Amino acid sequence: MKSSLLFSPLFLLILLVTPFYKVIAQKKSLDQKVDSVLRLMTLDEKIGQMNQYNGDWAATGPITKDGDKQEQIKKGMLGSMLNVTGTDHTRTLQQLAMQSRMKIPLLFGQDIVHGYRTIFPIPLAEAASWDLAAIELSARVAATEGAAAGIHWTFAPMVDIARDPRWGRVMEGAGEDTYLGSLIAAARVKGFQGKGLGNTDAMMACAKHFAAYGAAVAGRDYNSVDMSNRQLLETYLPPFEAAAKAGAATFMNSFNDLNGVPASGNAYLQRTILKGQWGFKGFVVSDWGSIGEMINHGFVKDNYEAAMAAANAGSDMDMESRSYIQNLAKLVKEGKVKMAVIDDAVKRILRKKFEMGLFDDPFRFCNEAREKEQFNNPDHIKVAREVAKKSIVLLKNEKQLLPLSKGVKNIALIGPFVKAKSDNLGFWSYDWPDDTARIVSLWEGVKSKLAAGSNVLYAKGCEIKDTSRAGFSGAVAAAMQADVVVMTVGEARDMTGEAKSRSIIRLPGVQEDLVKAIVATGKPVVVLMSAGRPLVFNWIADNVPAIVYTWWLGTQAGNAIADVLFGDYNPSAKLPISFPRTEGQIPIYYNYYNTGRPAKNDSDLNYVSSYIDLPNSPKYPFGFGLSYSSFGYSDIVLSKPVIKSTEKLVVKCTVTNTGNYDGEETVQLYTRDLVGSVVRPVKELKGFKKIQLKKGASTTVEFTLTANDLRFYNEKLQYIFEPGDFKVFVGGSSASVKEAGFKLVK
Ligand code: NOJ
Repeated sequence: MKSSLLFSPLFLLILLVTPFYKVIAQKKSLDQKVDSVLRLMTLDEKIGQMNQYNGDWAATGPITKDGDKQEQIKKGMLGSMLNVTGTDHTRTLQQLAMQSRMKIPLLFGQDIVHGYRTIFPIPLAEAASWDLAAIELSARVAATEGAAAGIHWTFAPMVDIARDPRWGRVMEGAGEDTYLGSLIAAARVKGFQGKGLGNTDAMMACAKHFAAYGAAVAGRDYNSVDMSNRQLLETYLPPFEAAAKAGAATFMNSFNDLNGVPASGNAYLQRTILKGQWGFKGFVVSDWGSIGEMINHGFVKDNYEAAMAAANAGSDMDMESRSYIQNLAKLVKEGKVKMAVIDDAVKRILRKKFEMGLFDDPFRFCNEAREKEQFNNPDHIKVAREVAKKSIVLLKNEKQLLPLSKGVKNIALIGPFVKAKSDNLGFWSYDWPDDTARIVSLWEGVKSKLAAGSNVLYAKGCEIKDTSRAGFSGAVAAAMQADVVVMTVGEARDMTGEAKSRSIIRLPGVQEDLVKAIVATGKPVVVLMSAGRPLVFNWIADNVPAIVYTWWLGTQAGNAIADVLFGDYNPSAKLPISFPRTEGQIPIYYNYYNTGRPAKNDSDLNYVSSYIDLPNSPKYPFGFGLSYSSFGYSDIVLSKPVIKSTEKLVVKCTVTNTGNYDGEETVQLYTRDLVGSVVRPVKELKGFKKIQLKKGASTTVEFTLTANDLRFYNEKLQYIFEPGDFKVFVGGSSASVKEAGFKLVK
């Protein structure tokens, strides 16, 4: 289109009757298309694209709690909304956007963190599966359902490394390890974005929270983070880089300040690293109100300065703080924010709208028939059950109490979660009117397994947060009549999540006392733990013969747990995060530095780096998880004792299923760099393989290491490997490994 035509009366007439995007020649490259839209936009319209509001939807329609959002959409003052779901709602608002001068479609975003209609295990639980295909599939299903409901964009995956279970948001990520976390980050991005943006079953992913939010001091949400750049680059940023490499369309910055600079105003993170070094082409949305919150941080004086700092630092879209819409125009006019900064942000946003196909058809995600079909897709339920089974961690199983027989005569189910429904879902999940029917409780799951003659006894015993022991006697009476007792205890759904940090991470209320009362009956007891984080439960760990960590497993929780309890599924999950003995050990993680005075073992207490009242080791280590079977590991065989930096080292280990069940094992590979120009962790995960083994069978598992796997950031922040001596470990958990040594030479 010739520019002389652009503002001609004919063109304006065409604009009035035709959505603008249809005027743009299809043959243009994406950049040209974006530029041709940008060129026609006023400054206010550009700033509008950088503005995102919450939906404020009431059950029956939009409400205008804080003003005239609908009018603002019509004026082109809004680029995106969050928390507007359902094709009817998104269509209504998109129609308003089509009344704006430029007719630029809105983006609808939502926290679809572990499912939309079909709720999957919380992300931390899924991480315990170490099953990247399952994790990707879970995100795929979530995207299919969300996109069918008119949502273009999920605020997930959360890829924050978290070594502190007090932090409530530990549930949203993949745990403490950078290597595992990076692979899972990529898997989730791929799952959400499917075959690529533009497909109507794909949602834009959003890697969050950039960055280092998981290291909030003392595990208190929204708290500050102060860490070396080396630690940032080596431990906290790789999952973000993996997400970017996997094609994540967007990033969200974080609430915390990092080394004194709030993430929303952090140019080092957003401009130097993300958009510079990593070449990220998507856009960055702030976290909710985080641009305005820089005032509270004491980083800026007012919203005007907040908008200036955030825009210049590379925050492209303002979620709900209204700093941009109220201040950017003035800032541009005064030369404090360059037009090029605005243009860059808007181009990034428009590019994604083009990629999503919204300029071709703003209503392409508003297909009611598709929405209906995906809303109750039975295949999704099946996937949810599969993923839930894979997420369950068997922590203890003395005398092979589990699996239980389906022919058990009398079984007592005791505890506040037995008949629970929504407490299976966990934080960041949505309630639907038919949830009671759809969510499978433990009660329903167990009953569906038992033979006709089995007698199922039930007692709640107490509520989750109860202080009363009034229900104990009934529970004890039920246990007394049973051959085996299955107890289910844990955290309520709202006890782990955003703004849900806990200083004491024990079972709430009198639940532990209830377990003690039931164990005192002398009956065999299995305890199921429902929680969003690692809990401290030493008495149970030491006195109950069988313990299963069931996290929050979602819609199919009861079926998945029953599959495990009765041996239809042999548990295979491994902890993606260390479980502390007490809160005093936190932060606790397996890849610590050795120190100058390392404790040799748990009883080594004198003038070494230890506590005088507690071993250093966690209660359950990273990578740990039992099976109904057992696995033996041979000694490690290395292809050679010395490798050059250009060569490969093959690490082999034979694993044998030494138990009585066919089973699955996650074989883990760790290394240690014995002497470095900066100190190196005692172990670092470098690989893992999931293997299926029939009982009695053996297989040789092979890993390949190269010098690239041994890289780290040196003092000058160069990403290098250094020749020298290394250890390599292979085993079924970070604490139970075989080891061998090799040398790397130039
Ligand atoms: C705040 C949370 O930190 C973020 O993760 C979420 O995506 C936004 N709110 C939107 O709900």
